[in-house]
Amino acid sequence: MSDNAKLIYDGQEYEFPVVTGSENESAIDIAKLRGSTGLITLDPGFKNTGSTSSAITFLDGEEGILRYRGYRIEDLAEKSSFLEVAYLLIYGELPNQSEYENFTKEITHHTLVHEDIKKILEGFPSNSHPMGVLSSLICALTAFYPDSLVPNRSEEEINLSIVRLIAKMPTFAAWAYKNEVGHPVNYPDNQLDYCSNFLKMMFALPAEKYDADPVVASALDKLLILHADHEQNCSTSTVRVVGSSQASIYASISAGINALWGPLHGGANQSVIEMLEAIKADGGDAKKYLDKAKDKNDPFRLMGFGHRVYKNFDPRAKIIKKAADEVLGKLGVNDPVLDIAKELEYAALNDQYFIDRKLYPNVDFYSGIIYRALGIPTEMFTVMFALGRLPGWIAQWKEMRENGEPIGRPRQVYVGANEREYVSMNKR
Ligand code: CMC
Repeated sequence: MSDNAKLIYDGQEYEFPVVTGSENESAIDIAKLRGSTGLITLDPGFKNTGSTSSAITFLDGEEGILRYRGYRIEDLAEKSSFLEVAYLLIYGELPNQSEYENFTKEITHHTLVHEDIKKILEGFPSNSHPMGVLSSLICALTAFYPDSLVPNRSEEEINLSIVRLIAKMPTFAAWAYKNEVGHPVNYPDNQLDYCSNFLKMMFALPAEKYDADPVVASALDKLLILHADHEQNCSTSTVRVVGSSQASIYASISAGINALWGPLHGGANQSVIEMLEAIKADGGDAKKYLDKAKDKNDPFRLMGFGHRVYKNFDPRAKIIKKAADEVLGKLGVNDPVLDIAKELEYAALNDQYFIDRKLYPNVDFYSGIIYRALGIPTEMFTVMFALGRLPGWIAQWKEMRENGEPIGRPRQVYVGANEREYVSMNKR
């Protein structure tokens, strides 16, 4: 295959290099396009635009393949742990025993947050959505660790920020929930593993003894692994773009949390359960909702279906569907919403509209069902996604910085009014 792509414009021919990645995907490098032709490219939603070269996650949407640093998601979900995967994503290799122990020890050591954070938390109305609270508390870390505002920090200083983020995120997430339900916050318990500690901070009450169920902790760990990275999606691109302005790592991650919140991105897991509940309340007629989703005059979309990149089964959805069956079985939960989900999936996969558009269930279709079985309330689903995605955001932020990437600043084609004279108010 040629190393160059040719463009003919206005009778002139231009050549641009073709860049090939390690899995043979190719891209036209248009860095010199505007300089040589005066043209820019126009690609709303970045459907055909690569923003970076990255060595973190490989995704083949046609084949349904997902790998972190070369390791298959299926293997990591089955054999690894969330903190091991976090290390892999951030530092590029699986840790050996002592690297893993040090990393875990450091994270466990930093779980406590400054007492003044509680004052910020108390300022939020009790019905605040936990995603808004979480992003605010993460951003507030810039005030507690102002050194993070300095652009050219040493590797050691950055590693400390990374450890703080992974350590404190479960504390903030659990506290955001406690604020919502009006319960006193729980402090971290450093005797516990990452997920059991989070569950305890979230569910323990002063009046009762609480021990995290190992089935629940292990299912949560798996879900976090499945969400840990997904290359240049909306929230990750947000983290990289905000970070490219040399904003603090805490501010960059906080921005990513806000991008994740939307129902077309991470917020879909909450929307899926709300949709399944609505179908159940409406008599359980899956076909009726399938027809609504196909009707171009109806804004309704089948939540948890379709993906910008996957035009095949989302491999994470396959793992989660199996895990949902196992977890519900182990916990003895019988959720009628699971039956509706299965019926809807079957109907959609056999429907020409969904077949033609290659719309398959995505990661969010079944994750909400497991979260529900684990006792996690609906409005916390996207917070769980954020907890999982954190190492991916960090790894991508770190890579962007190490690559010395320039500030992210897209161009536009202006279609507004041409120059005109100012008209004073009394003449309008
Ligand atoms: N229900 C009904 N029709 C759909 C759906 C859906 N869920 N998703 C896409 N379509 C149709 C869409 O109407 C369009 O049809 P047509 O070609 O006739 O105009 C076609 O499929 C292509 O859709 P698109 O909106 O151009 O595709 P996109 O790549 O811009 O959007 C998406 C991807 C995920 C935003 C979209 O599929 C969607 O809104 N899905 C529901 C929300 C959801 O589950 N989001 C979670 C994504 S996975 C978690 C994550 O990583 O964020």
